[in-house]
Amino acid sequence: MSEIKRDTKNPLLFECAWEVANKVGGIYTVIKTKVPVTVSEYGDRYCLIGPLSYKSAPMEVEAEEPTDPHLAGTLDSLRAAGVKSLYGRWLIEGNPHVLLFDTGSQYIRLDEWKGDLWNLAGIPTPPNDHETNETIVFGYIVAWFLGEYVSRRLDKAVVAHFHEWQAGLAIPLCRKRHIDVTTVFTTHATLLGRYLCAGSVDFYNNLQYFDVDHEAGKRGIYHRYCIERSSAHCADVFTTVSHITAYESEHLLKRKPDGVLPNGLNVVKFQAMHEFQNLHQTAKSKINDFVRGHFYGHYDFNLDDTLYMFTAGRYEYRNKGVDMFIESLARLNYRLKKSDSKTTVVAFIIMPASTHSYTIDALKGQAVTKQLRDTVTEIQNRIGARLFEYAIRTNGEHVALPTPDDLLSEEDKVLLKRRIFALKRNALPPVTTHNMADDANDPILSQIRRVQLFNSQSDRVKVVFHPDFLNSNNPILGMDYEEFVRGCHLGVFPSYYEPWGYTPAECTVMGIPSITTNLSGFGCFMQDLIERPQDEGCYIVDRRSQSVDDSVNHLTDHMFSFCTKTRRQRINQRNRVERLSPLLDWKNLGIEYSKARQLALRRAYPESFYGESGYAGYEEGEGEDVDGGFGFGMERMGPQSVPASPRYKMSGIATPGDIGTLTEEMQVLGTSDYRGIPWPVSAEEEDEGYPFPLV
Ligand code: UDP
Ligand code: G6P
Ligand code: GLC
Repeated sequence: MSEIKRDTKNPLLFECAWEVANKVGGIYTVIKTKVPVTVSEYGDRYCLIGPLSYKSAPMEVEAEEPTDPHLAGTLDSLRAAGVKSLYGRWLIEGNPHVLLFDTGSQYIRLDEWKGDLWNLAGIPTPPNDHETNETIVFGYIVAWFLGEYVSRRLDKAVVAHFHEWQAGLAIPLCRKRHIDVTTVFTTHATLLGRYLCAGSVDFYNNLQYFDVDHEAGKRGIYHRYCIERSSAHCADVFTTVSHITAYESEHLLKRKPDGVLPNGLNVVKFQAMHEFQNLHQTAKSKINDFVRGHFYGHYDFNLDDTLYMFTAGRYEYRNKGVDMFIESLARLNYRLKKSDSKTTVVAFIIMPASTHSYTIDALKGQAVTKQLRDTVTEIQNRIGARLFEYAIRTNGEHVALPTPDDLLSEEDKVLLKRRIFALKRNALPPVTTHNMADDANDPILSQIRRVQLFNSQSDRVKVVFHPDFLNSNNPILGMDYEEFVRGCHLGVFPSYYEPWGYTPAECTVMGIPSITTNLSGFGCFMQDLIERPQDEGCYIVDRRSQSVDDSVNHLTDHMFSFCTKTRRQRINQRNRVERLSPLLDWKNLGIEYSKARQLALRRAYPESFYGESGYAGYEEGEGEDVDGGFGFGMERMGPQSVPASPRYKMSGIATPGDIGTLTEEMQVLGTSDYRGIPWPVSAEEEDEGYPFPLV
């Protein structure tokens, strides 16, 4: 690639994503939770790059002067040309260096860059697509930065890792300009996949037949699609987060990924099982408080027999399977009623939508319950004082206890009655906590209306739609998302389109059982690794090989059988789920990222690798060591007593490396190396050895 001999043993790493220090969805979780393992590998040679949001940056980043003179020089030079940026430490675990660029400072060059993009890559861009404009400006600034930086810093190889199309445009630019970096592109979905699935298309059975340009054009995203596709094609190494998305990428982006980099989490180890069980109990009490307030006046169910189920994520109605969730809740309601169950299910839907703040009713519910609680505390204090007074006045000989009337004054009674009257309510407890911007057409509300889950007294399934992400400062459900999840009993994520799906993975590491599908990257990952995931509290609904109606019933069955579990069984199940955490720990999965970077270095600087060892891999010893040392953190599995260990599918010690599959050969193999249930195949492909064998 170049005459300069760069050090490939200790390369520098820039990791670039739109969600660096900028939370939107799951990519933020990938980047943020992965930082500790990346920092432990790269230390100060690691820097993240993202967009500068003046609103969130002050909370996320502590500004700092660069100590690397080449970096300082590069940023000075960009600043002189008007590029505003913020360099510092991201205030998260691992404290990595972070560089944020203010796209707004370069909109003056937007037209020039759009012209360049057209000349360079033939990618057209419409005038009013804000997201694409941001992508272009950001991509050009990042490529500018990298070009300038590597022309100053000549001693080290530079790996530039990009996530998703919004950060990917710098990749074709680096390639066209022969910038001496090696690039990795990780896609967390495909644009077309997301769009096609959100419509009513039989996506998975038709993947190989879509006329991609036509479909992208029809949906007005041709230009975005081109950016995504060129990022995938120009990268030295192309990866995705799951096999299902790898398969999709091959057909929709027309490049077969080099491998799969499954998403991990930063798993917190508890000294003892009961610690996370206690956290569940504490968090559940907070949800109980919310429920008492929300259902005031109709709070006729026993919280001891109540189960909290939830779904959460960005508002993608069909992709996230909310349609299926609500339909299944209706069937569950019917089955619970029919079986005279004393269990009540409160189902939460946490999905941000456009709203005009909280409803008066939702606020009032919490207010009247608080008033009642305060009044009870006051009366309780007064009763205590009276009781004490009564006892102290006796002479110790005649012990006559006070009657309730001696203790509860008329005034107290009136006060209490007034508070109880305030609990009277004519309407049913509301389904939603907020005033929706478009109540009448909101898909979730429409579906709830259709199935008539209106929180009436006879309903065994109650619904609460919270159309905003959770936050401990919220006035009515004041809990952080993590705390909320811990307090629930079951997460339900019946996604139709889900390249990975952090929400069920997060449940798992918190020891909360969840239901997902075999169309989600996470679901397939668990299915590939564990013999009987359902025994471990990781339920997977089949949305591939059966009708929608059957899938709905399948989901209902899981929920219904969960409702029949005793408390002891639920506690055991939480223990079992939590034991799966090492499977999702970055300490184990981070190796796949290391492999991707090594492959990128090897492809860009083959002479540094082939010359010495004659082997073109990442250091062989290194790989073995890492894989061998992982064994899914088997040591974490503890004594093989209760609960029984999950049975893994692979014989011997399974490693996440077995699942990641990143190999140099991936490109030349057929699609047959994707894991999971066989995919539908075309006649031509069949000749090439399809359908694929099960792995
Ligand atoms: N999430 C959150 N607050 C909420 C609900 C969800 O921070 O109230 C986070 C959740 O922790 C998860 C992310 O949103 O990390 C959603 O990621 P996922 O991969 O499930 O879906 P995506 O939105 O990326 O498609
Ligand atoms: C945890 C706590 C127990 C509590 C239980 C409730 O395990 O440690 O003290 O009884 O949660 O479980 P449940 O599934 O009924 O919320
Ligand atoms: C995307 C996908 C989601 C995945 C996340 C992180 O936003 O929709 O399934 O978990 O990226 O990879």
